[in-house]
Amino acid sequence: MNTPQLIDTARTMVADDKGLLAMDESNPTCDKRFAKWAIPQVVEERRAYRELIVTTPGLGECISGAILYDQTIRQNKKDGTPLVKAITDAGIIPGIKVDTGAKDMAAHPGEKITEGLDGLRGRLAEYSQMGARFAKWRAVTAIGDGIPTRGCIEANAQALARYAALCQEAGLVPVVEPEVLMDGEHSLDRCREVTEEVLRTVFTQLYAQGVMLEGMILKPNMVLPGLACPQQESVDEVADATVRCLLRAVPAAVPGVAFLSGGQPGELASARLNAMNVRFRSRLPWAVAFSFARAIQQPALEIWRGKEAHVVAAQQALSHRARCNRAARRGEYNAAMDKDMSATDYPANREACGIRQYASDTENTMQIQINTDHNIEGHEALVAQVSEVVESALSLVSDHITRVEVHLSDENGDKRGQSDKRCMMEARMEGRQPIAVTHQSATLVQAVDGAADKLTRLIESTLGRRRHQENHRADPPLDRQKYAG
Ligand code: 13P
Repeated sequence: MNTPQLIDTARTMVADDKGLLAMDESNPTCDKRFAKWAIPQVVEERRAYRELIVTTPGLGECISGAILYDQTIRQNKKDGTPLVKAITDAGIIPGIKVDTGAKDMAAHPGEKITEGLDGLRGRLAEYSQMGARFAKWRAVTAIGDGIPTRGCIEANAQALARYAALCQEAGLVPVVEPEVLMDGEHSLDRCREVTEEVLRTVFTQLYAQGVMLEGMILKPNMVLPGLACPQQESVDEVADATVRCLLRAVPAAVPGVAFLSGGQPGELASARLNAMNVRFRSRLPWAVAFSFARAIQQPALEIWRGKEAHVVAAQQALSHRARCNRAARRGEYNAAMDKDMSATDYPANREACGIRQYASDTENTMQIQINTDHNIEGHEALVAQVSEVVESALSLVSDHITRVEVHLSDENGDKRGQSDKRCMMEARMEGRQPIAVTHQSATLVQAVDGAADKLTRLIESTLGRRRHQENHRADPPLDRQKYAG
């Protein structure tokens, strides 16, 4: 084990306020995301998309390392240059996902165990030869009735630790990713409890397997309420709960914590990362960074849609999200950064690429903007109808909202599907971070109705909770002094 080199690589991965870009989607996951935008699900399209990403101008200013998938690390640019060379030339460290996926765990209904230890020593040697300097392994923990079980937590933690030890033996920095999933109705507190238990178990196993903590990176989830939980805490509350949990479970010897985004809207992931750095950065033992896939790639993929003519616009969107997250590491991100982009070049790009936008002003100050994907025939009647549904559904809380953005998509295009119309609805409120919900249904109007209903409940609970806090102040946020130097 080359200890100084491992420590140096791990430190570089979280240095200079940069973070990691996860572009290691397996073929099935990548194909699923392509299918949504009617991009052909073939090797060449996956290669072209990864070339788009790694040739994004200036990417290395914000991204320290890129996590690749087995197929990608073997691919070349169209001109024959290996993608790994393009990445290193951009000043980015190549990494590789080495687990072979989370599979149903025997005797543990509803739980998964990550596989891939067999033959791992040989694969790591090959990846190292190809230029990889770090690796990633993801274990998932679901929260639900009676789960997670100790059996599942311990088995996944031990596999993570055995993977990490093999990585260090091969000279690769292990990125240890124990992800507690966002799906479900569980509360933020339940997520905190499970995340703490998972992390404590993982570090016990890392110690037992002789892993050098200074030469690894932890890639955890943020502590969040379940997606279907009616109470959605504020950005600052999420930052407090996450930092409080990590301080209890993550040893100070670890150089960096690089969060996964887990399907959070990009802006929200940046805002939460930013809040952690604003509130606690100077007093934390580890760097608080990012290792996002969707929260960096999503707008770029949406713009690209497999079209050569959209590459530059997609790269601009990718670069923008990477810059937002670097700003979040410095505690300098604010929603206006994304808004500025929305107000200038980014929508022009979207417009040029056929993603349509419509704005409608209601009688009060709430502005409604409606975006549709290429599968939806956007026309005045649809806009008027959707605006009406949004206005009436949000009427009880509209005084608090300055703007609502509605994104409508048809997941299956022409094909008939049961619940394939999707509505993402995001509300901006004075002095608060944006909040967003999604709803899928058989028709667009039902999808809009469902999303508006969820959003109203979320806003009511947010405002209700805020009033409660203002009145009582019974549970002050994390005591900064307690964790001071
Ligand atoms: P997301 O940021 O989209 O969660 O992906 C991170 C990742 O690498 C999942 O393994």
